[in-house]
Amino acid sequence: MKQLLFSWFTTAACVGGFAAETVWLHTLDLTPMRQGYGTPQIDRGIREQPLSIAGQKFEHGVGTHAKSTLWINLAGGSSRFQAAVGVDDATGDPKASVTFKIVGDGRTLWQSGTMKMGEPAKSVDLDVTGIQTLILAVGDAGDGIAFDHANWAEARFQVAGATPKTMAQPSEPAVILTPVPGPSPRINGPRVYGCRPGNPFLYRIPTTGERPIRFAAAGLPDGLRLDASSGIISGTSLKRGSYTVTLRAANSHGHDKRTLKIVCGDTLALTPPMGWNHWYTHYDRITDELMRQAADVMVSSGMADVGYQYVNIDDCWMNASKNRDSLRVGPLRDDRGNIVPNKHFPDMKALSDYIHGKGLKAGLYTSPGPLTCAGFAGSHEHEAQDARQFAEWGFDFLKYDWCSYDGVVKGDHSLETLKRPYRLMGDLLKQQNRDIVFNLCQYGMGNVWEWGEEVGGHCWRTAGDLGFELDRVFEVALKNAEYRAHSKPGSWNDPDYIQIGLIGNARGMGEPIPCPLTPNEQYSFMSLWCLMAAPLFFSGDMNHLDAFTVNVLCNPEVIEIDQDPLGECARVIPAGEETFLMVKNLEDGDKAVGLFNQGETETTVTARWSDLGVKGRQPVRDLWRQKNLGRFRNAFAARVPARGCVLVRLDCGR
Ligand code: GLA
Repeated sequence: MKQLLFSWFTTAACVGGFAAETVWLHTLDLTPMRQGYGTPQIDRGIREQPLSIAGQKFEHGVGTHAKSTLWINLAGGSSRFQAAVGVDDATGDPKASVTFKIVGDGRTLWQSGTMKMGEPAKSVDLDVTGIQTLILAVGDAGDGIAFDHANWAEARFQVAGATPKTMAQPSEPAVILTPVPGPSPRINGPRVYGCRPGNPFLYRIPTTGERPIRFAAAGLPDGLRLDASSGIISGTSLKRGSYTVTLRAANSHGHDKRTLKIVCGDTLALTPPMGWNHWYTHYDRITDELMRQAADVMVSSGMADVGYQYVNIDDCWMNASKNRDSLRVGPLRDDRGNIVPNKHFPDMKALSDYIHGKGLKAGLYTSPGPLTCAGFAGSHEHEAQDARQFAEWGFDFLKYDWCSYDGVVKGDHSLETLKRPYRLMGDLLKQQNRDIVFNLCQYGMGNVWEWGEEVGGHCWRTAGDLGFELDRVFEVALKNAEYRAHSKPGSWNDPDYIQIGLIGNARGMGEPIPCPLTPNEQYSFMSLWCLMAAPLFFSGDMNHLDAFTVNVLCNPEVIEIDQDPLGECARVIPAGEETFLMVKNLEDGDKAVGLFNQGETETTVTARWSDLGVKGRQPVRDLWRQKNLGRFRNAFAARVPARGCVLVRLDCGR
């Protein structure tokens, strides 16, 4: 049947003495085409109107939407590719801007540059002789994909041999780049740690290496003690002040030493908080048992050894008035107005004790509205009672999610209205005899990064749920990095959780399945978050951690970039149409540099010293591979895989 269809659109020609026929792009199977919106259209634009570029109509072609890629197996059988490309007129929006790119066997063969609505079609006439694999790609010209309707009009191949066939994008092997930690102890984790005077103190020294390890700590403030075999420091630090503590760890293979500055004062979260949050794996299936298992795995997987610390319950631990699970249905509050956990959480205090027993910390979730986003009991008009309760239960972190508060304020989003519930809860948390990190979740309304700290917050979501737009990790990160001026110790921009490994699709609150990101996208995800000094909360399935996921989550040299005491969010430097650098100053004068490629094929990205503000011969270390690459003069260039990155540290002091 397909053969018959082809013959309809094929015309005989004579190329180089061989009989060649024309095979039209729109006759190929377009199902492997990936695009940012809608589905590929045959002989029509994405709005299902006739193909039209700057008023010029085209009978045949493929209408798509940025970002779009189509892989075609030419198998060396085609000699020419011809097309007319441009933005489809039906977009109707002058903001529409796209780039067309054609890649043959990994080499860019043709690029359109940025094309806008109303710009005449550009014609492509390419020699593709001998090319095995061709990629037709449409980018968003760096300004987001909105209105980016793109046409491959009159697109066709001259074919003398094998017929072109579209193909699925080849899957990438999940290559583990990071060497496994050696048996000798290595102390990881933040170099500075904030606590408030008079409150319980708990810190498990993150240390890789074969157990048993003997720990020691010199210079601990009065009131704190170390358990030498577990490496857990606990107690109550009463006096304000800054204490430089020397931590030591030793086993039969060796020893390590590191200083930790404990600052007993008013500010918590002096480095971005790190941990796990249940949302993107368990949604409304979360139970006490799953939380305990997550705490167990945080230790057994080695995550706690590199600094993961908080084990956080998200929504759905309370009762709802109605729910598909009857064990989650019940009175929202008791006679005295106390919030009632649902039957999957029989004893909140016992749960936090269990987590603390491992030297880890426990986090909880509620909303300033009467109901949470998933329809469970919120804290509205019970704020003081709930703050007290959460502290009594022993929680160390609170996520405060706007949700139904819109109903309370009837949609009023004035700055004072946006601040009010957060200031209320922020003040209440400070009054508790516990150090409770306060996480604002209101999706960035009213430029929360400008006032989150003022209302008592330590970190604030800068956007909506990343789980709904995982394919836009780069864009979300680049947007978040725009608020870099507000990143500093105790005050962090939060672009949402790390969603790798097994996660449940956010749309249907699904059961955990392998995340849709390629291995290179996962390396980019973690690198971007670390360069931005983002809170690092893994939200994948702790009970099904695979070696690749652990390798992405647990590289201490990468995490050190996130946890750097300076607290700077990297600055973004464009490096090409689809490439950019992120440069982060570190406390010791070093620089962390991410070389990122948002494109669909491997490319070279160059970090020039003049852009980074450094001079001379600089030692460069590859952080994912934990490998020194040598000294470089003027620039460092690397081949960066599709949608991947290379993350390096410039040792500027040496
Ligand atoms: C909102 C938040 C998410 C999650 C859910 C829970 O969507 O942004 O992070 O907490 O609510 O219902």
